[in-house]
Amino acid sequence: MEGKIVFNKRLNSKYYYMKIENREFVKKCKPGQFFMMKTQIFDYIIDPLLRRPFGICDVDDNGFTLLYLIVGKGTNLLTNIKEGSIIKFSEPLGNGFKLVESSKIALIGGGVGIAPLLYLAKELKKKNNSIVLYYGGKSKDDIHLVDEFKKYCDKIEISTEDGSLGKKGRITTLFDKEEIIDKIYCCGPKPMMKATVNFALKNKINIEVSLDEKMACGIGACLGCIVYFKEKDSVVQKRCCVEGPVFDGTKIDWEKLDG
Ligand SMILES: Cc1cc2nc3c(=O)[nH]c(=O)nc-3n(C[C@H](O)[C@H](O)[C@H](O)COP(=O)(O)OP(=O)(O)OC[C@H]3O[C@@H](n4cnc5c(N)ncnc54)[C@H](O)[C@@H]3O)c2cc1C
Ligand code: FES
Repeated sequence: MEGKIVFNKRLNSKYYYMKIENREFVKKCKPGQFFMMKTQIFDYIIDPLLRRPFGICDVDDNGFTLLYLIVGKGTNLLTNIKEGSIIKFSEPLGNGFKLVESSKIALIGGGVGIAPLLYLAKELKKKNNSIVLYYGGKSKDDIHLVDEFKKYCDKIEISTEDGSLGKKGRITTLFDKEEIIDKIYCCGPKPMMKATVNFALKNKINIEVSLDEKMACGIGACLGCIVYFKEKDSVVQKRCCVEGPVFDGTKIDWEKLDG
């Protein structure tokens, strides 16, 4: 697939927000799915050879957005792409989140892990859920799109490790144990997801997490994105790109994940 860049906005020195036009993609995609994208626009340049995976952040009738954090070569190249350019990407990939109805939801996002939770919040709101967003970052520079989340969330709790925005500390210290939560959706750094899964296990809450394993193909062929699961007495392997990236967090063997 390909699409025109509607905007590629610099949010600060670390984060960009991009919109791509493509109606066909939007008709097919679901919250929690991702896509593999070329990180530059020229067919004759083959470096980086591999496309990079990104979560679908938001959609409207004309196209979709991605929130990206500058990490290395590919994401640095993305920042140079100008409005009006044409970029190549895959169809929507992976399984996506399972949407519940009429429930009390906690969305828990850390850093750029907030990206797939916006489209999710939009779809959950249509299903009569009440939604609390817990959003954490190292500093205020990691907190974005809050006004967009306000359209769908009944309450938003923000924390930063340096106290520059919201409450000071880690987001995992903010969950209100007295509040009833029927389901948690979580995406962020692995230690934060692991702590959230422990909270869910202790309080018997259903939890789905979205993992961002390194991916080379995105379609199940290279086996580069294997995640380990504990099922009864055996260890089961699943491909994050096909069987995931969204999984029941309580089944993952967290000790075997990098990071
Ligand atoms: C499902 C999913 C959703 C994601 N959603 C987002 C998002 O919404 N926003 C966002 O900012 N990031 C997202 N990421 C992470 C994003 O894909 C990486 O930050 C990006 O690939 C880094 O690429 P880079 O070229 O800038 O960095 P590089 O420096 O090239 O890569 C960073 C590191 O990853 C390794 N690596 C890079 N590509 C591959 C590969 N294909 N296979 C194996 N190793 C590789 C490199 O060796 C290096 O160690 C997501 C990842 C996944 C799997
Ligand atoms: S990225 Fe190749 S199998 Fe998942």
